[in-house]
Amino acid sequence: MSDAQANPEIMNRKSEIENLRVRLGRRVRFSINPFLEAENSGCNSYTSRPAGEGLSLFLELDVELVGSAAPQTGLLVNVSDIDRAVRRHAVPVFTERVRDYLRRGEHIGFDRIAAILRRAGEHLEDTFRPARVDRLTLKLNPFRKLAMDTKEPGMLYFSEKFEFAATHKLWNDEFSEPQNRKIFGKCANPTGHGHNYLVEVTVRTPAAGPHLEVGRFEQVVDEHLMQVVDHKNLNLDVPVFRTRIPTVENIAVFAWERLAGRFDPVQLHCITVWESDRTYCSYHG
Ligand code: NI
Repeated sequence: MSDAQANPEIMNRKSEIENLRVRLGRRVRFSINPFLEAENSGCNSYTSRPAGEGLSLFLELDVELVGSAAPQTGLLVNVSDIDRAVRRHAVPVFTERVRDYLRRGEHIGFDRIAAILRRAGEHLEDTFRPARVDRLTLKLNPFRKLAMDTKEPGMLYFSEKFEFAATHKLWNDEFSEPQNRKIFGKCANPTGHGHNYLVEVTVRTPAAGPHLEVGRFEQVVDEHLMQVVDHKNLNLDVPVFRTRIPTVENIAVFAWERLAGRFDPVQLHCITVWESDRTYCSYHG
């Protein structure tokens, strides 16, 4: 008889853990050089494996699994096993297809990336049972990514980051000065303080199209959001923040209000605003 069978407390704990669903992510970095016959397989997976040679295409694939951690180990899936399986089953899908397209001199648009992600997801489908691959996210560069939920492979989520600098002051005129200082601390400084904000805009677009035109997308964000907030004093220069306190929460909501409905036929899905690398807020409308 095992300890767990003998001890009802451990039994209860075991079933509690089995009922907890967790989401585990693993990032796999690899490079593709379409012009070399043999890839340098490399042995530093922290940077890139295959390692790439000269100027290669560097990619990052985030694989997110959902399920319950095993009571005995506390693991959903051992990340070494995730890494090994992704490199064996998913990375070759990217390598072969990207190589083929580039060697033929063909553009790799969202529809083709979607097909690659879908195929990579199918190759991983039964690998981690009972855990399930829920989402694959391909980093296109440090500021853009394309994600697909395996349950809904017909949709893509495209995200891009933008930056703006602004001054703000967190203050409510209905509170006394000591109250404001108590609630908002240093952020209540009467003459304001600044941040370099990052805004990530995520849109939901059908994998089969019509697709997002990235140039137009950037123009819309620039015109309707960036030009309104960049190098501004948010409390004084942006009318909405005369009545709303420009917290990171309210800036995320404001960004949503400025951009929702402007990417037709593509839908706005989420806004995330970082006030620093430690503070951020997401809003889904
Ligand atoms: Ni602040």
